[in-house]
Amino acid sequence: MHFSPQDRLFVLTGAGISAESGLATFRGSGGLWNGHRVEEVATPEAWDANRELVWRFYSQRRRDALAAEPNAAHKALAKIEQLLAKTDPANFYLCTQNVDDLHERAGSHRIHHMHGSLFESRCSRCNQPFSDQSFYEDPNNLPSCKICAAPIRPHIVWFGEIPLDMDAIYRELNRASILLVVGTSGSVYPAAGFVHIANQRNIRTVYVGPEEPLNIDAFDEVILGTATEALPALFD
Ligand code: OAD
Repeated sequence: MHFSPQDRLFVLTGAGISAESGLATFRGSGGLWNGHRVEEVATPEAWDANRELVWRFYSQRRRDALAAEPNAAHKALAKIEQLLAKTDPANFYLCTQNVDDLHERAGSHRIHHMHGSLFESRCSRCNQPFSDQSFYEDPNNLPSCKICAAPIRPHIVWFGEIPLDMDAIYRELNRASILLVVGTSGSVYPAAGFVHIANQRNIRTVYVGPEEPLNIDAFDEVILGTATEALPALFD
């Protein structure tokens, strides 16, 4: 895949890019949604019903992410950003559905976590996010806001909530010349619809992953392979 200095690359990543770092994806065998029911841990209703269970789930995910390291695919994206940024830093934008911090640890800068961040929490009433690497696994010691005493929740976008900063995402997508999608099953909207928007704008679209996503028909090119096999080779 060759870039010209004028290219503006919009990258969308999903759980698949962190799979080879040892983090479970959501769907499929061994996926997180196999061991947990989404409605029990990733909805506002789950939070209202059982905060202890929700915090146990996200505390374990914090542990897993802390133990993981960025892989060659995360690093390849950081490298291509560095290259494109020489012309204009705005020529690269990484939108991730992932809540882990492996892209940042690999060196990515222009990155947006549309589904929130595992290492941030926020007061369920004041809503101001703050950095947080703690584990909340003791049901008698769940966190609450020091200002208003409302429960502190993970800074994660749950099902039924609106992804973060969609205006900025659509602004970046509209000015892109290439949409590269990596490791996402194409089953959760609005992210699964970015490829359709790109098609309306004549933006070249490329998918990378070992299996066909649900929205495969919408892509111009599909590269079947794992992220660490395919991405570094794509940017050579
Ligand atoms: P999924 O679990 O739905 O899909 C993971 C994708 O990664 C699949 O298409 C796999 O084929 C692919 N994959 C597996 N191993 C890979 C590898 N080594 N390299 C590249 N790709 C690989 O995860 P997402 O599509 O990210 O939302 O899920 C989207 C959203 O659904 C998540 O952000 C999460 C979830 O429920 C919320 O929690 C709000």
